[in-house]
Order: sequence, then structure tokens, then C-alpha cells
Amino acid sequence: MSSLKWWQTAVFYQIYPRSFADGNGDGIGDFKGATEKLDYLTALGVDAIWLSPHFPSPNWDCGYDISDYCSVAPEYGTLDDFKNFLNESHKRNIRVILDLVLNHTSDEHPWFIESKSSRDNPKADWYVWVDAPPNNWQSCFDGNAWTYATERDQYYYHYFMKQQPDLNWHNPKVKQAMWDAVRFWLDMGVDGYRLDAIGTIFEDPNLTPHTVPMNLAELRRFSELAQTPEDMELKEKYWHDMFKHQWGQDGVHELMKELRSILDEYDGDRMLVGEDDNIDYMGNGKDELHLVFNFPLMRTEKLTPEHIRKNQTERLSSLQALSAEKGWPCNTLGNHDCSRIYTRFGSKLHGPELARLHAALVLTLKGTPFLYNGEEIGMTDHLLTEISQVKDTMGVWYYHTIVTEMGVHPDEAMVRTAEMTRDKNRTPMQWSNSPNAGFSPKDVSTWLPVNQNYKEGINVHDQEKNPSSLLNYYKHLLRIRKESSALKEGEYIPLQNTTDEYFAFLRHSAEQIVLVVLIFSESTLDMDFSSVNEVKDAKLKPIFSSAERRNGETVPKFKVSPFEVYIAEVIRE
Ligand code: GLC
Repeated sequence: MSSLKWWQTAVFYQIYPRSFADGNGDGIGDFKGATEKLDYLTALGVDAIWLSPHFPSPNWDCGYDISDYCSVAPEYGTLDDFKNFLNESHKRNIRVILDLVLNHTSDEHPWFIESKSSRDNPKADWYVWVDAPPNNWQSCFDGNAWTYATERDQYYYHYFMKQQPDLNWHNPKVKQAMWDAVRFWLDMGVDGYRLDAIGTIFEDPNLTPHTVPMNLAELRRFSELAQTPEDMELKEKYWHDMFKHQWGQDGVHELMKELRSILDEYDGDRMLVGEDDNIDYMGNGKDELHLVFNFPLMRTEKLTPEHIRKNQTERLSSLQALSAEKGWPCNTLGNHDCSRIYTRFGSKLHGPELARLHAALVLTLKGTPFLYNGEEIGMTDHLLTEISQVKDTMGVWYYHTIVTEMGVHPDEAMVRTAEMTRDKNRTPMQWSNSPNAGFSPKDVSTWLPVNQNYKEGINVHDQEKNPSSLLNYYKHLLRIRKESSALKEGEYIPLQNTTDEYFAFLRHSAEQIVLVVLIFSESTLDMDFSSVNEVKDAKLKPIFSSAERRNGETVPKFKVSPFEVYIAEVIRE
């Protein structure tokens, strides 16, 4: 029997509510739609949902600017609709974690409206106010980080858009109010939280200016045009230096400990996963976050065996080193903030093969996998062509800034904007080959345009019927994972340390050893595991093979096909 917690063996699936399922036919996703799709998620085989923000919001940052933490955005339904979604999920043994945005609220949140109204109201210091901008800090979304409010004749600080003022977490009343909201949903039965942008909660108390010789728009533009190795390096350095005084500052650990202790008051192993890759936020392994994402795995241009091996070695050894309890890994390749896996890590020639390889990777590595809605059918980025279509307002800001302040031609600005906005990876889920991809009824204008490639088989309905579709491949892999103790909980043992043509490793639990071979090569290869102790005198029993391998194959040497995914149980007599 496994001693692991549910969040260690679960496969999570991120629902971006605006784009997941439109139940009332208004062009926007909602709880009615999402509830109707729970059977789809059961059939897919996921165990838990991470729900991106579903709270009332003016949507300057697509829901990450919250104006009421204890309610449901009317376009998604009512609180009862949410409760129904939660209950129906639980009935199917699917847990639900919510998104918790701690750093900032919407500027339309009553707390901010009150705080802004005068210098001496009860919430006057719930946000970060100054008489004059004390430094050159930038917002990472829209230029200057200090914005003027006439009512107080003062400036407030915002790390993100000016419609997302930063809360003053030094104020105990802020904490109290936010912890009340946290309890509100935990009392209702939610299984935990994904914590948004925790690194940005505190700022350098000395307000040290950044030293980058550019503002945000100039840095973005510089980054787009950078080509030489020197400029590429400079770009990295500038991004780091521009924001280094605005995130990762002291105070977060204490806050995470407080939050953890609230969760621990509840039964049912409620959990926290932080939007950060810093394992320090797991504290001693028991007193802060349960998980943080292994973002370094996906922060690469290309997923090569060399990159993956190095990532795993570093990541797993630092997680082992946590003091009280070893840290558990958490892997993902995509979410609502970045280009879709199929586009980013794919290639013109081998898109389908690579999508399968990458799915196998995230589902066989040690740790909790997070999938992003739509990746299971191979949804791709959809580049917008008109500025009027852009909903990600950081993109709108950038477009206008480079056109008006830098003289960039609107056509070029649009191309750049389409690439940088996150709209491209947030388009409506493609459910079928009917108009609007079956997301909304025909003739309804969806909140973001539907990617027309739903007509080319990139939709759920067509793929459900096709045994060799990507969707059925995901389902199969998820089932394999569920049935294998080694894949769910086994240790990771790397094999072969040099080649970039394949990535092979063992997963080793008390009950089972599994060999995973992922071929990243376009050619047929000869595998030889004769120097691997666990494998050399064993039989390999395939439990998954994209090349339809059969039982009883001779080991430890065999041929593999281009891009093959091979998972076998190692049977030792
Ligand atoms: C996180 C979210 C992102 C949002 C930002 C500000 O990074 O994932 O979508 O824009 O925080 O809340």
C-alpha cells in the first residue's frame, strides 16, 4: 500500500474557465459547461483539477485581477453552480484546487476603492502608497510600477498592471481578510490552492532602483530584436536585473507557514502548490508548500535528453535535501501563461511524434504532473491578426506603446503582439468539428476567436472516435500510469548519460521496476542495456509501446523506431 498522499499520485488538469466549456451558449466558458465535461475528464483519467480564477473580475488580466474573493464571476454562473461543480467533481473522485491570488487585487475591489478614497480611511494602508515614485521600478505588464491616484494625491505600487494594485502584506488586517477568504472555500470543501505569483508579494524595503538602461517597453523590444549571443545574454541579465528588487524578498516564508497551518487545520490533506520553481518555498518539507513547479524543465527552447537529464539530476537532488521530509517533484510543460506545448516544443516535420513524446515525458517522470486543457488533443497557438481581438491587455498596452512611442509600424507591432500575448494559448477548447469547434453555438461570437484547425481533426469528438489519436494516446498513458506503482511513486534512476538521441530511465518502487525509453531521434536506433544491473538478466514486459512491441522480447539489446515511446516492466526471475 502506498504511503503517498493523493496530491503526490494524482494527475492534475488545469481548467482555464473562460475557455473550457460554454454551457449557456454566450461565447464564454462557465460552470454549467465545465460540469457537463466532468465525464470527459473522468474518461481522460485525471484525478484533480486546478481551476484558474473563477472570481468576479473586471478582466484586465483575465481573472487574475479579483474584485471579490468570495464569489463567482457572473459570466461563469452562481455560487450554487460552483458548489454543484465541486460536488460533481468529488462524486467522480476528482479533487479541485482553486487559484489564490495573494499579491494584488483588482483596482475595483472594495478594499482598494476604500483605500484609494482618502489618506485616513480604515483601509488607507492596505495597499502600498507613497507620496512620489521613489524609484524607477517597472510593472512587468505595463510600464511604470507607480500609478497616481488623484483622490489621495499619492501613488500606489503594482507589480502587474495598474489595475492590479499590490496589497500591503505587512498589514495584519490584510492577512486576516485574505485568510478569511481562504477559509471560505476550504469550508466549502475545495482541496487546496495553486498560489499565484508568490515571489512578488514583498518588495525590497530599501526600494533600490534597478540599473537597466531601459524601461519595460524598450526591454521587450530589445528582447524581440536580440540576435547575437551577446544581446541574448544581455537580455537575460536585463530581465533579471530589472525586477530583482521586486520579487523573492524576505517575508514569503513566514506567510507560507501561516497559510500552511490554516490548511493543516482541515481534514482531507488539503494542499498548496506554488507558482514558483524555488524549492525553498517547501520549507522543511512539512511547514510551507506541498509542491512547487519544476519550471526549469519547460524553460528551454527544445526539450532535449541532455536538458531533461540535467534538470532531473539537479531538481531531484535538491528535493532530497529538504530537512524534515523529502520534497516531492511536480512537472509540467505548459499552462495559460505560455505558448502551447505543441507549438513551442514541436517541429514542422514531427509535430505529432513530439507531442506524444512530451506527453510520455511528463507522465513518466517522478512527480505530480500538471496538464493544461487542450494539450491532450494537440491544440496549438492561435495568432491573432487584429488588435481589436486582443484580450490580454498587457498585449494591448505593448502594441500601443511601440506604435506611438517607438514608431514601429502597426503591422509589425501586431505580429509581435500576437506572439507575446497569452491569448494565443487561451483560445476556446475545441470540442468537435461543428461551427465554433462545438465550444459555443454557431454564429455566437466567442470571447477569443476559435482556432480554425478544429476542422483538421484537432477536436475532442473526432479524436475520441480515432483509436490512434493523441487524445486516446493520453488516455492510454494515464491508465498505464494509474496501474503502475513504479510510475506513480517509484524512485527515478537515470540510465545512459550522454546521448541526445534518447532518454532512458528506470522507475523503481517496492513492488515494481519499470524501464522508460523515449526516443528523440529521427532514425532507428540500437538499444543496449547490458551494463544496467536491473535489466541485464531480466525480461522486459511491455506495458506501453508506441511501436506495438510484444512480450518476451530479448533483452538487454533491441532496436527502436524513430520517436518511439517504450515503457516496460522489468521482470526478474
Ligand atoms: C500569474 C498568473 C498570470 C497572471 C499573473 C498576475 O503569473 O499565472 O496569468 O497574469 O500571475 O496575477
